[in-house]
Amino acid sequence: MHKPAPTEIPIHELIRERWSPRAFSDKSVPPEVLRSLFEAARWAPSSNNEQPWVYLMATKEDAENFAKMVGVLVEFNANWAKHAPVLALSVAHLKMHRDGKPNRVALHDVGTASAQLTMEANSRGLFVHQMAGIHAEKARETFGIPPDWEPVAAMALGYPGNPDSLPQTLRDRELAPRIRKPLKEFVMTGTWGHTAPFVSA
Ligand SMILES: Cc1cc2nc3c(=O)[nH]c(=O)nc-3n(C[C@H](O)[C@H](O)[C@H](O)COP(=O)(O)O)c2cc1C
Repeated sequence: MHKPAPTEIPIHELIRERWSPRAFSDKSVPPEVLRSLFEAARWAPSSNNEQPWVYLMATKEDAENFAKMVGVLVEFNANWAKHAPVLALSVAHLKMHRDGKPNRVALHDVGTASAQLTMEANSRGLFVHQMAGIHAEKARETFGIPPDWEPVAAMALGYPGNPDSLPQTLRDRELAPRIRKPLKEFVMTGTWGHTAPFVSA
């Protein structure tokens, strides 16, 4: 299923075609593809090259660790994400390696790495659905995540499936139009609230 962004201005096809499905095919993701996805995350830029990310992941074939991953998702997410062939959880290092001071942009950098992973996935015909709906403290206990590290977001990934495999409410959301704020609301110049002039040019 395709669900391209109805953009007002042309953008790269890869970005236009990315979306967050909840229906995944049973097809497993080969290890070499998984390596490429995490390699793409690896090469994300980060403040001071801190690379403040770790990904805990499990494939469905690894039933024990997959069940642990499903167990840290909120129920709404677990219900659909358990059908994806791969689940992962991003974790951010909140302190700088060099001096132990707080890394103000750790979550930002983890998001950048996940975005790169997502684009690499899309370029290979896979899709990623990220999830804030996790039990963070349960994740910390389940996986033994150290104190200076913060569970950020889970993700389900795999090849696209059939929306008919979803219950009605999720199927409706799967087929719903994609919407975004207009550029004029979030690209500003000079003073907060002043749209950048090029936007309406
Ligand atoms: C960090 C993050 C957290 C999200 N959390 C959830 C979630 O817990 N459950 C869910 O079903 N979708 C979740 N989503 C998916 C968003 O709802 C989705 O990206 C948004 O509606 C835009 O749709 P699109 O990705 O198809 O363009 C999350 C996305 C991101 C990036």
